[in-house]
Amino acid sequence: MPQETEILTEPAATGTPNSIILITILVGLVLLGLFLIFQKSYSSTPAHLLTNTSIKKNHIPTFLIIGPSNSGKTTLFHYLSKKSSVLEANANGKDSDSDNEANNDKKVNNYLPADGTVTSTTFNINNQFKLPLSSSFKKNHILIDIPGNIQISNNLVPTFLKNYLNIKGIIYLIDSNASDESLISQSNFLFNLLLKTESYSPNGIDILIGLNKSEIFGSKPIFKVKNLLINQFDLLKRNYFQNRSSTIKNIDTDQMNQPNSNSIDNDNSGDNDNDFQFANSSTSFSFDQLEGNVDFFTGSLYKNDIDRWENWLDERAVN
Ligand SMILES: *[C@@H]1O[C@H](CO)[C@@H](O)[C@H](O)[C@H]1NC(C)=O
Ligand SMILES: *[C@@H]1O[C@H](CO)[C@@H](O)[C@H](O)[C@H]1NC(C)=O
Ligand SMILES: *[C@@H]1O[C@H](CO)[C@@H](O)[C@H](O)[C@H]1NC(C)=O
Ligand SMILES: *[C@@H]1O[C@H](CO)[C@@H](O)[C@H](O)[C@H]1NC(C)=O
Ligand SMILES: *[C@@H]1O[C@H](CO)[C@@H](O)[C@H](O)[C@H]1NC(C)=O
Repeated sequence: MPQETEILTEPAATGTPNSIILITILVGLVLLGLFLIFQKSYSSTPAHLLTNTSIKKNHIPTFLIIGPSNSGKTTLFHYLSKKSSVLEANANGKDSDSDNEANNDKKVNNYLPADGTVTSTTFNINNQFKLPLSSSFKKNHILIDIPGNIQISNNLVPTFLKNYLNIKGIIYLIDSNASDESLISQSNFLFNLLLKTESYSPNGIDILIGLNKSEIFGSKPIFKVKNLLINQFDLLKRNYFQNRSSTIKNIDTDQMNQPNSNSIDNDNSGDNDNDFQFANSSTSFSFDQLEGNVDFFTGSLYKNDIDRWENWLDERAVN
């Protein structure tokens, strides 16, 4: 508390220490109040405090935001959280000035955190994430922002997949200005993520690959990022399945043990063909082989160009 240190360094000669203490306490209470109000809607939990008991199994529809550090995940988390809560308040008629609000809704800046560069080493969770954004008939969702640090991610992602049994989608953010080398190293992480999401449920999990910084001159267009990932996934898939039996049932079941993983073949036969090709080490990788849909969209909070991402969330929220 900075207030306390001020008291200590304040010379006693300046007079009324009692009133200084009183003011300090008042300021402290106001800050605490603001903090509690903030905590109520979304909170940060240090990753090291995360235990098996603090994450309980639940079926609340959930979205995860994943990606490397500096891809803008936490900014996106705060933006979506704030927008969803403002729109919900408006939908509940807490603001009569609807014309102004309708215009404000379109301005990205209104929802951005004051400090534009938020980084986080903890995961952020919003338990009051109201979707769809574009409809007044909203339903509660959970939005979780997982830190980019690869080790934290590797620990947290499986924990969330095991306990959040109704994950509607994952936003994976990519810096489209990243080098080929950086994208290649990310592709390992992303491939492992796909192995997990594909065994999560019969339908897998839908993934939005969001390309950030697409407005920068020299950034990679979608098709380049996509082709690079397809080539990498192809290599990784061949290695991964070479020594495994070619049914998807075996994917990662040692780690996942999802209740649904045994029913994965109860789908229609068309999907089974896809499973089969994904797990066949001599077939080239394609995104069609996955149960979950993978969409690539550029987006930029700076350019007020985030509609495609919001629509993607809304579509999954109503399904
Ligand atoms: C949860 O418990 C399992 C074993 O029951 C353990 O392997 C895992 O590391 C634990 N996860 C966390 C986040 O503590
Ligand atoms: C984009 O990438 C180039 C080359 O790596 C780098 O010099 C530049 O700083 C990057 N720009 C941004 C905004 O990240
Ligand atoms: C596949 O398994 C066999 C026998 O377990 C082993 O000898 C071989 O090295 C493995 N190949 C690869 C590519 O892992
Ligand atoms: C895997 O794919 C190859 C080439 O498409 C095909 O010849 C082979 O029969 C497939 N293997 C299985 C087990 O289906
Ligand atoms: C893109 O990344 C920058 C940080 O590098 C971040 O400030 C910005 O919010 C991100 N954009 C989106 C759409 O998340």
